[in-house]
Amino acid sequence: MTFLEEIQRRRTFGIISHPDAGKTTLTEKLLLYGGAIQEAGAVKSNKIKKGATSDFMEIERQRGISVATSVLAFNYKDKKINILDTPGHKDFAEDTFRTLTAVDSVIVVIDVAKGVEKQTEKLVEVCRMRKIPIIVFINKLDREGKDAFDLLDEIEQKLGLKVIPLSFPIGMGYDFKGIYNIWDKKLNLFSGDVKQTISEGIEFTDINNPELDEIIGKSHADILREELELVEEVYPKFDKEAYLNAELQPVFFGSALNNFGVKELLDCFIEIAPPPQPKMSDTRLVDSKEEKFTGFVFKIHANMDPKHRDRLAFVKIVSGIFKRNTNYLHVKLGKKMKFSSPNAFFAEKKEIVDESFPGDIVGLHDTGNFKIGDTLTEGEILEFKGIPSFSPEHFRYVNNADPMKAKQLAKGLDQLMDEGVAQLFTLDLNGRKVIGTVGALQFEVIQYRLEHEYGAKCSYENLNVHKACWVDPQDETNNEFKEFKRIKQRYLAKDKKGQMVFLSDSAFTMQMTQDKYPTVKLHFVSEYK
Ligand code: G4P
Repeated sequence: MTFLEEIQRRRTFGIISHPDAGKTTLTEKLLLYGGAIQEAGAVKSNKIKKGATSDFMEIERQRGISVATSVLAFNYKDKKINILDTPGHKDFAEDTFRTLTAVDSVIVVIDVAKGVEKQTEKLVEVCRMRKIPIIVFINKLDREGKDAFDLLDEIEQKLGLKVIPLSFPIGMGYDFKGIYNIWDKKLNLFSGDVKQTISEGIEFTDINNPELDEIIGKSHADILREELELVEEVYPKFDKEAYLNAELQPVFFGSALNNFGVKELLDCFIEIAPPPQPKMSDTRLVDSKEEKFTGFVFKIHANMDPKHRDRLAFVKIVSGIFKRNTNYLHVKLGKKMKFSSPNAFFAEKKEIVDESFPGDIVGLHDTGNFKIGDTLTEGEILEFKGIPSFSPEHFRYVNNADPMKAKQLAKGLDQLMDEGVAQLFTLDLNGRKVIGTVGALQFEVIQYRLEHEYGAKCSYENLNVHKACWVDPQDETNNEFKEFKRIKQRYLAKDKKGQMVFLSDSAFTMQMTQDKYPTVKLHFVSEYK
């Protein structure tokens, strides 16, 4: 296969949803189509159970497994599909945001009964900002839920999307008869039998054909005809370009648990979803078809194997072919590096590979050289943009609880921050260290991991901070900036890169500060330049 063919056949995407909408179940069913797993249940172990009081214990227990499930690759028809795992738990939203920088499209799963939920709103907003093509899958049609048109309205309003149903449900819950697949004009009947072999659906190009009444009953047939007529009147025609430009979002209905409507989704997905896309760097747009290798780290996973205390940096290949034992430039460090055992991910296994192509993810063993956002190239000096840190919203002082282990604590904190678990700030005034996180759960995770992986103990102390924002003085010689620094001295800190951060105690203070010092810009993402 040629290099270009390899690129064209790749589809790298993420599935996003509010916890419990069915992301794990859908992933599992998709893997079945690739023959990638033999039985259902393989992906389940990666799930962070909702609401459990010690979520972090569960996370810890699952960490070994979740590395393998961070990327799930499989072949389906002539395509190579890479699914990147995105944690649904809100405290891990930042992880998900970062993973979204490595996908070329997403599938959004929505529970038919619950409709659009909070977490989905946030994640879809990020996708919209980044113009990522989206397909929506409305799940759990075997249960009673909202009316299909009401749901489509809700998706448009709450998620700011422009939808086009490509399949339509016939009945719902107890009365769920199946779906009409508008995309390929097929009727697929629901049997409710999980073990049922997947039906291809019945070709049904003319829904006015009276045979439809015989198959699904006259009243269902009439309703379906009416609804499809309405679909045609109300919604635009499907337009692949509009989907690829994130201006139109196709919607499918089904039941992941019953493996119903999943094949339709997958078949359409491989037809329309984009192959690896170009990516913007600080110097230029890098096209996936360029022959020279470039890639960037979007995730770091530490200490999976207690016997080998190393980390795995997940690199998304943007262009060229990544080859084993070849020298590449770590741009930020200005250092040449080669990798003797890059991991590729296939279903729930990982294996060493000689070559990987754009769209693929390789896992590189790392002893502390990589940070999230780092770029690797064949020598060109460029860095990919767009992996920001977000303003944390939970803050605590971190103290060393075991004076004999100061070094271990420093190292542990340093590495956990590189992994993106949280952010560390050092107060200008007294040098005290403050940890800022997006979710409260991370504090537990940090404490637990410091102890178990680094042998260090920490304690926390509360700190009244509402939000951290990055300070962009614009002009450091400006008197306004000098005054800002003098007055706000107690609330200023440095992040790990040495950038100035303002820790404000309330939304009101932040607004007042911005009004008082208009030339000093306050930003909510670290990558503001
Ligand atoms: P998540 O990864 O988005 O958090 O969701 P997950 O797939 O784990 O699904 C959440 C729950 O919803 C699971 O039930 C799952 O079996 C169920 N589910 C998923 N798809 C469907 C569907 O199409 N129809 C119905 N009726 N249920 C569905 P659970 O009881 O929480 O977990 P489990 O005990 O089944 O593992």
